[in-house]
Amino acid sequence: MPPELTVVGSINLDLVARVERLPRPGETISGATLDRFPGGKGANQAVAAARLGATVKLVGAVGDDPFAEEALAGLREAGVDTMLEVAGATGIALILLDERGENHIVVVPGANAEWAPAGFPGAVLCQLEIPVENVELAANEADFFCLNAAPARPIPPSLVERCDLVVVNRYELEALPAEPRLTALTLGAEGAVLLERGVEIARAAPPAVEVVDGTAAGDAFTAALVVSHLEGREWDEALRRACAAGALAASRFGAQPSLPTAAEVDEILAA
Ligand code: RIB
Repeated sequence: MPPELTVVGSINLDLVARVERLPRPGETISGATLDRFPGGKGANQAVAAARLGATVKLVGAVGDDPFAEEALAGLREAGVDTMLEVAGATGIALILLDERGENHIVVVPGANAEWAPAGFPGAVLCQLEIPVENVELAANEADFFCLNAAPARPIPPSLVERCDLVVVNRYELEALPAEPRLTALTLGAEGAVLLERGVEIARAAPPAVEVVDGTAAGDAFTAALVVSHLEGREWDEALRRACAAGALAASRFGAQPSLPTAAEVDEILAA
C-alpha cells in the first residue's frame, strides 16, 4: 500500500524571470525571459510526494481569479486530491533566477493567508508559507507531523515541540526557538545531516548534477524524506533518497516541472 500524506500549505503561481545575473539594489536589468510555473511550497511538496509514490491530499487556498487554474495544474496532473478554499487572489511568487541557478524570491501570499484548516489525522506535512496559527491547527490531530520550517519566520517553541520531524537549511535552523526532536538539516552541495536532539545520526551527500535552478530543491528533499520514512525505510536510506531528489530538482528548471519521480531517484542512486 502506498503511504498516505496530507500536505497543508501554500499554492502559488511562480512568475520566473531568467537573468544573466541578479540585480543589485536600485539596479535595472534588461533582457530577461519570462516563464510561469505552478509553485508554492505546499503544492510543490504535495506534487513531489505524489511523484514519489504516495497518495496525497493537499489542503490549501487559491483566489477567485484566472491564475488559480494555472497554479493548480501540477497538482491535477500528479493526481493529488485537493481540498480547496477560494478566497481573494491566488498566491504569486516573483522569482529572479540567474545563470548559476541562484534566485531571489518575493511571495505575495494572497489566498494562502486568508483561510483556516482543520486538524488532520495520519501523516501531515506543513511549511511556513501559511499563517503559523494554521500550521498549529493542521498539526492538532496528526499521528506523524513534519514541518519544513521554510521560509524562516518566528514560530512558538510549542510548535517545534509538536513536530516529529523538522526540515531546515542553516538559516532556518538559526530561526528555530527550540531544538526539535529530529532535525533534517540541508547543507546545499554538501548534502544533509539528520540530528536527534542535536546529535548526528545520519549523513548523506547528493549525487553530482549540474545545478540550473535551486527553486523547489528543498521541497523535493522534504517530500522524499517524509515519503521514504512513511514507506518504512531506515533514516540513512531516506536521507540518501532525499538528497538525490533535491539534486534532481536543482538540475531542472521551474518548481513543479523539476520534481522527480521515484524511478528517477532510484536511477540516479544506482548510477
Ligand atoms: O520552495 C519553492 C517555492 O517557494 C516556489 O515554488 C515559490 O512559489 C515559493 O513559494
